[in-house]
Amino acid sequence: MATHKLLCNLSFIFLLFFQFHFGTSEIRLNYYSETCPNAEEIIKEQVISLYNKHGNTAVSWIRTLFHDCMVKSCDASLLLESINGIQSEKISSRNMGMRNFKYINTIKDAVESACPLTVSCADIVALSARDGAVMLGGPCIEMKTGRKDSKESHLAEIDASLPNHNDSMMYVLARFQSIGIDVEGTVALLGAHSVGRVHCVNIVDRLYPTVDPTLDPNYAEYLKGRCPHPDPDPIAVEYARNDRDTPMILDNSYYKNLMNHKGLLTVDQELVSNPITSPFVEKMAADNDYFHEQFSKALLILSENNPLSEEEGEVRTDCRFVNKD
Ligand code: HEM
Repeated sequence: MATHKLLCNLSFIFLLFFQFHFGTSEIRLNYYSETCPNAEEIIKEQVISLYNKHGNTAVSWIRTLFHDCMVKSCDASLLLESINGIQSEKISSRNMGMRNFKYINTIKDAVESACPLTVSCADIVALSARDGAVMLGGPCIEMKTGRKDSKESHLAEIDASLPNHNDSMMYVLARFQSIGIDVEGTVALLGAHSVGRVHCVNIVDRLYPTVDPTLDPNYAEYLKGRCPHPDPDPIAVEYARNDRDTPMILDNSYYKNLMNHKGLLTVDQELVSNPITSPFVEKMAADNDYFHEQFSKALLILSENNPLSEEEGEVRTDCRFVNKD
């Protein structure tokens, strides 16, 4: 772990140098170097301390980044509560099972007490996903900062933006392509399903009334044990783990499971049955470093999707609410 961190720091210094000499964009490396030099350190400390108390927070941060950035922009719109004409994105069925939002406020509070009204919630979403991935044994990724927070929710756009668990692979690939992520990147990003859980409501259509023939029969029996009812209560805490062997490690066992017909969601299993994606599944199953490399690249593209300009966005004081004028 110490070597891993040293490598993270060295590549960061290199990228800083590179950026200094070759220009900047609206979001850039070390955006807070003057306004809040310790911002990234504070966020990292909070992510580590939360992980030590509630390990699954690290898992949540990765999913939160996806669900925020895939819908229009990385702008923390997902965090807004329903109030004053805003309808929270959290009520969408696509955001079912998302957890630990309250701990984003813990991170934000720590950052606000060091640097009031400076660091955006959108950057907290991005950096916590980056640091969460490291806690789960994933790659270390240098991320730009300077995202701004939206002043509105994008609830109405969620269904057209976030794929569903049983959408066709062609549709899924087109969605990711629309934000600049290619087939290889899409296969790598779905490797996030190496960690965390899936509620039974998202699994039962593969088990009842008949078992999906692409599922390994023993695995299907295990899943039936976890999800004994064809019609589970959507709010019941009935779930199966994404990867039974290493559910808290961001590794390539997800791809090995897929090749053994132990993909949990329809969309997971489709990765291996689709001839466009399956060669990448095989490569990632064979090589964890290659998976991490592709995951890093694709997560960066995702994390830079359509950031808002200063005029379009703001830095919220409280991630749950738009600032009062
Ligand atoms: C086609 C694309 C995707 C679909 C349809 C999809 C769907 C889902 C579903 C249905 C769940 C289970 C929710 C529940 O029942 O609690 C889930 C969990 C999860 N997803 Fe995805 N997902 C996709 C892509 C991604 C990507 C790109 C990432 C991140 C890079 C991601 C990260 C996660 C994580 C970490 C979990 C576990 C969450 C937890 O345990 O709290 N997913 N996903």
